[in-house]
Amino acid sequence: MASSVLNGAENLKLMSSIRPTGFGLVRSNFQERCFPRKGLVSFGWNYKARTSTPRCSISSSRPSSQPRFIQHKQEAFWFYRFLSIVYDHVINPGHWTEDMRDDALEPADLYDRNMTVVDVGGGTGFTTLGIIKHVDAKNVTILDQSPHQLAKARQKEPLKECKIIEGDAEELPFPTDYADRYVSAGSIEYWPDPQRGIREAYRVLKIGGKACVIGPVYPTFWLSRFFADVWMLFPKEEEYIEWFEKAGFKDIKLKRIGPKWYRGVRRHGLIMGCSVTGVKPFSGDSPLQLGPKVENVKKPVNPFVFLLRFLLGAMASTYYILVPIYMWIKDKIVPKGVPI
Ligand SMILES: C[S@@+](CC[C@H](N)C(=O)[O-])C[C@H]1O[C@@H](n2cnc3c(N)ncnc32)[C@H](O)[C@@H]1O
Repeated sequence: MASSVLNGAENLKLMSSIRPTGFGLVRSNFQERCFPRKGLVSFGWNYKARTSTPRCSISSSRPSSQPRFIQHKQEAFWFYRFLSIVYDHVINPGHWTEDMRDDALEPADLYDRNMTVVDVGGGTGFTTLGIIKHVDAKNVTILDQSPHQLAKARQKEPLKECKIIEGDAEELPFPTDYADRYVSAGSIEYWPDPQRGIREAYRVLKIGGKACVIGPVYPTFWLSRFFADVWMLFPKEEEYIEWFEKAGFKDIKLKRIGPKWYRGVRRHGLIMGCSVTGVKPFSGDSPLQLGPKVENVKKPVNPFVFLLRFLLGAMASTYYILVPIYMWIKDKIVPKGVPI
């Protein structure tokens, strides 16, 4: 299925790696630092598309932590207070379909029903429904910071045996060396400090355990990039790999994903664009040392700034609801094989 997604990606020349010197901060001189890295990216069965041509990112100075609307835990909380009501009906059909989900979970290698799995940012349990096809529900924990999203998950009969808990992806309430698999789908774009979340993924896994982080990709189309930047973090593929490497993961792989009918995931970023996996090579904590959290969720917010951010965020989310509809229509009109 990935091939149909990739046909439209003018940007298939992947994948170079960026090596920022500050955590999550892509420095302006990073272009000099790009280098080809083979073997990290899988394109489903369209391996012919693979190339190791160096390609540096579009926005070299874009920091991974900045005050985008919703990349703030309080704002994400309030956003999901309302979105949870319609989440399964609005988000999944356009951005996160069942076949995408199953495709994205395949590298997680869920081969044993007795595996202990944590689904971080599990929300209404849509991804968990994919996980429990392979693992017994009683071995799966859904964690999310939104009680409203979790309330929806609790209503789902197949998830009745899962453990469902509130928590923060950047400070997981699990012991070190706890789980066989860490899965997080469509949540990293909200985390104020994604590197910290990936470091936590490493910590909670057992030796040999695998993390699978599914998320959006940075768009190549200018308007999508603009809305992505004001709204939430659409990481570059290089950034995902960088975070995994820094956290200590080995055997890191990135698989591109997208809806069957959607030929422009990389153009618009979409809500889900790749599935990144890595294996924990040693037991214990991550070798990466981070200082205290920078984000202070209790800090009072200027109401005018909040209003502006809210308006921009609302515009961006409207744009990203319309993009899949537009791309779906385009897919019907533009002849197959022609990039869109
Ligand atoms: C787009 S939804 C994805 C839900 C689910 N994984 C799925 O596949 O449908 C993103 C979820 O991440 C959660 N989230 C955002 N920031 C979080 C954080 N710091 N810790 C835990 N969950 C978080 C949100 O509450 C929301 O439920």
